[in-house]
Amino acid sequence: MSIEVFGLNKTYKNGPTAVDNVTLSINSGEIFTIMGPNGAGKTTLIRIIATQLMPSDGHVRVCGYDVVHETAEVRRNIAVVPQEVMTYGQLTPHEYAYFFSRLHGNDARNAAKLADQALDYTLLQEQRDTPCIKLSLGQQRRAVIASALSSNASVLILDEPTTGLDPIARQSVWTALRELTAQGKTILLTTHSMDEAELLSDRVAILHEGTLLSQGTVRDVKSTIPYQYRLILDEEPEGLLGDVPTFRLGSKTILYFGTSLEATQFLQDLLEAGHSAEVTPTTLEDVYVRSIEGQS
Ligand SMILES: Nc1ncnc2c1ncn2[C@@H]1O[C@H](COP(=O)(O)OP(=O)(O)OP(=O)(O)O)[C@@H](O)[C@H]1O
Ligand SMILES: [Mg+2]
Repeated sequence: MSIEVFGLNKTYKNGPTAVDNVTLSINSGEIFTIMGPNGAGKTTLIRIIATQLMPSDGHVRVCGYDVVHETAEVRRNIAVVPQEVMTYGQLTPHEYAYFFSRLHGNDARNAAKLADQALDYTLLQEQRDTPCIKLSLGQQRRAVIASALSSNASVLILDEPTTGLDPIARQSVWTALRELTAQGKTILLTTHSMDEAELLSDRVAILHEGTLLSQGTVRDVKSTIPYQYRLILDEEPEGLLGDVPTFRLGSKTILYFGTSLEATQFLQDLLEAGHSAEVTPTTLEDVYVRSIEGQS
């Protein structure tokens, strides 16, 4: 077990309870993704695990070390990409990757190799010697990600790492993260991107108002709502809906079904009535939105 969180609470001084009795464990070599609305407590949880914030109650162990009592040992084992981080403008992406790698204890030769690889992954070779102040925001963000990728730390903790990255850069970072897990590294990340969570993670969790609504594989989490299939229509099928669970998105209508048989039977009726539609499996986004809605 790489990260163990047990009965964790965090109440900010004169503020809300941002994390409310969270228990979870993250295995070595897996990518674990925390999703949740703005203000759900993701960053608070991540910062406690990364030894940047003290918990109010509960325990967290990273690589077997307690985040409160063995802070130095925890820090030796982790590399962190915070949600909001300004780059040191005069540093170049190469310096970022190289110096942070050295700070994590890699010798000069190894750090040079790791830095070079991190710049490949973040697609920054062309900008490797350009001061960050002259780079775009997304490129600066990639330089910060490169500093974590080059660390060789056994646990990477990344708070919305790919927010603001273009799709090509994002996929390259995904590739890097998967390769690191193949080497046995553990990755904890947060994201608002459902396809990132679905494609990249071994396991996911949904956090809402500080509480975990569900956690498990994408398949486990999807099975927490009783709808496995959906049908999207460009219009409302007058008189055909009955009691089918429905979600309206402007002029579009999304219908949810428990089984493919129910969905295809309904599709048949629609086709006979002159509508056109197709049946697809529900996505993680459907599950996420329905489970958050179910709380209000
Ligand atoms: N330093 C702080 N002092 C007081 N309250 C805070 C502080 N930081 C966060 N909060 C509150 O704690 C709650 C959780 O915030 P947090 O930043 O952990 O959410 P989040 O899930 O990371 O949101 P986002 O998706 O917007 O990044 C929010 O209600 C927020 O207002
Ligand atoms: Mg956050």
